[in-house]
Amino acid sequence: MNTHKGSEWWRHAVIYQVYPRSWADSDGDGLGDLPGITGRLDHLVELGVDALWLSPFYPSPQADAGYDVADYRNVDPIFGQLEDADKLIGEAHSRGLKLIVDLVPNHTSSAHAWFQEALVAEKGSPARNRYVFRDGKGANGDEPPNDWSAVFGGSAWQRITEPDGTPGQWYLHLFDPAQPDLNWDNPEIRADFVTTLRFWLDRGVDGFRVDVAHGLIKQRDLANWEYPIHGATGDGVEGRRAPMWDQDEVHEVYRQWRAVLDEYEGERILVAEAWVQPAERLAAYVRPDEMHQAFNFEYLEAHWTAPDQHSVISRSLAANDSVGAPTTWVLSNHDVLRHASRLGLPVGTPRPDGIGIGDAQPDPVLGLRRGRAATLLMLSLPGGAYLYQGEELGLPEHMTMPDEARQDPTWERSSHERRGRDGCRVPIPWEADAPSYGFGPTDASWLPQPRLWAEYALDRQRGVAGSTYELYRETLRRRRELGLGSGELIWHDSTGNSVLSFTNGGVRVLTNFGPDEVTLPEGAEVVLTSHPLETAGVVPSDVTVWLRA
Ligand code: NOJ
Repeated sequence: MNTHKGSEWWRHAVIYQVYPRSWADSDGDGLGDLPGITGRLDHLVELGVDALWLSPFYPSPQADAGYDVADYRNVDPIFGQLEDADKLIGEAHSRGLKLIVDLVPNHTSSAHAWFQEALVAEKGSPARNRYVFRDGKGANGDEPPNDWSAVFGGSAWQRITEPDGTPGQWYLHLFDPAQPDLNWDNPEIRADFVTTLRFWLDRGVDGFRVDVAHGLIKQRDLANWEYPIHGATGDGVEGRRAPMWDQDEVHEVYRQWRAVLDEYEGERILVAEAWVQPAERLAAYVRPDEMHQAFNFEYLEAHWTAPDQHSVISRSLAANDSVGAPTTWVLSNHDVLRHASRLGLPVGTPRPDGIGIGDAQPDPVLGLRRGRAATLLMLSLPGGAYLYQGEELGLPEHMTMPDEARQDPTWERSSHERRGRDGCRVPIPWEADAPSYGFGPTDASWLPQPRLWAEYALDRQRGVAGSTYELYRETLRRRRELGLGSGELIWHDSTGNSVLSFTNGGVRVLTNFGPDEVTLPEGAEVVLTSHPLETAGVVPSDVTVWLRA
């Protein structure tokens, strides 16, 4: 065991999520790739983040944009080769960047060799026992084994045809039918994932973002759950824990993984993608012998009001403090409406699962204004923070994408009720006047880029005072300089219900959520603002300021 405490870099790191399909395309086929990422790493250095996290780039039929993995220990040819991954890891490290990869343990792709073997194996065979196969209900077994629904829509069960051609057993898929759930009670599965961890650790990765970390273990009796599960929260309803999420035994898995990571030099980390509430329940994933971090989705979902922000920040810090873990903060990722658009919806609107033509459109100016204020607030909080590619450009969601272009399985599986996540996954603009805005050498882009995106391109913002990109850079520079990530938050009494104010180390942070202007105390020295103050000493609505403490 590696007992050396080290720098504990992850406690205060800013980690940038690269969505490989949409960051940089080196060969012009319209899909991003690993050499493209390597070629753009200097951007992350200039921006000033500590690490990057890569969404999956493993062999996959791409039924769920790579979260359907057919081989955990290789690279899909559409993204490059294993050597490209090695090169990317090496190039990131030579720039002082850490690199985290995605691990998808809840389910494989249906194209995985294990699942293909299970389909032709007998009922009750070891091959079937790697997944969750059950007989159906009803006289002919033609009803699903229980009433669970899938996160993307429809039943969570799919019936197979047995090798002899008769209608057969059913298998569980909490997501798409192309993503069969693994049976984590099977020791073979546990052992194999340790092999995968070691495979990437040996190649030098600094950690893993663990997909659906709260889903691996299901209640053994697979009891009915009369509620939809697409909310995917582990807290269930009416005091009942949902039988497919956040089961206590899941923690054994992470304890085992932590022991493996601790054998390695250099503080490799685990971060949980666990849609679990309340914060105390989530904190269990980051106990000292489990994961290092967990995404704070409760923060992401909090409304844009001073009381809501105050409450989620306080509760998050308290829950994580109680287990000695850092709190993390996140506003956007590849699964949610980009925050520069989300915050342009009326306050209190439930987070929509995609927006398209004909839907109520958020106010883009207000969204960006609040988005910048939210980011400046987030990056002044102690703990780790996650950024999602393109947010440093103030990029909005693509909200007028033609439905024919959609690729997220959510759209079809929900019978066109939920548009899904394509709008936040559009390839990002680097150069205003280049084909595909510099995403690749050609016009090709796997999702259409909106015509108005030239104005968001990096080259239109770099060096431009007041641009969102320069705001992010300056904020990250000062955050690092002032050590805010490892600071301590002290609340100030707020004025009424509309102002949030606290001190962290050398800065006093103030966000004005209300409609009225807030006058700063006499002599207050403004360090940074999310929007220029038109009148000195007066903070308008939806603006965050940093003052020298
Ligand atoms: C969470 C991932 O972030 C999401 O993109 C994916 O669809 C599901 N897990 C299923 O793997």
